[in-house]
Amino acid sequence: MRTIRTIALVGAVTALASCGSGDEQTPDETAAPPAPAPEARVLTDEERAAILASLPAPYSEADTENGRRVFARCRSCHTLPEGGPNMTGPNLWGVFGRQAGSVEGYNYSPALREANFTWTAEQLDQWLNDPRGFLPGNKMSFAGVRDETDRRDLIAWLKVETGYTPE
Ligand code: HEC
Repeated sequence: MRTIRTIALVGAVTALASCGSGDEQTPDETAAPPAPAPEARVLTDEERAAILASLPAPYSEADTENGRRVFARCRSCHTLPEGGPNMTGPNLWGVFGRQAGSVEGYNYSPALREANFTWTAEQLDQWLNDPRGFLPGNKMSFAGVRDETDRRDLIAWLKVETGYTPE
């Protein structure tokens, strides 16, 4: 009887110890804040700053916080992270430097599928200003972002979030 109780007690103490422990055994890296969802690729602050600094004017002076807010208008149709799903619109990871209409598995309109250009900041600026005027026959039902500063901020923020790599 006595032995059994001792064993039970030892067990409880061990369980408690392992539950609240970690400080001494856990290396610093794993003591970081809660891990992000596995599918999201999270850039470090250094990577973000490096991308932003590499952009030509006016994008290097962009207010990326405003860009993030402007993206609220795109969010219902587009995902940004690598491997993110296509929704009403295609996933936008890696869009800068990519041939227009070329996301695997996305059902583009003939207009965009047959368009023969590569997405640059300048192309995106025109597309976002007036999607229909820029490429007649495309199926993105979106009125556009008419404010020039909003477009600048959005494009800079998109560069950072879609994994654009400075040359
Ligand atoms: C109502 C849904 C909707 C909204 C809102 C929307 N898009 Fe789209 N987007 C689409 C669709 C649909 C396409 C594909 C068009 C086609 O195939 O003609 C598209 C295509 C694109 C493309 C071309 C991608 C490629 O692979 O060539 C870019 C870039 C883009 N959208 C950016 C944006 C941005 C930035 C915003 C917000 C300012 C936005 N879109 C808002 C639906 C949307």
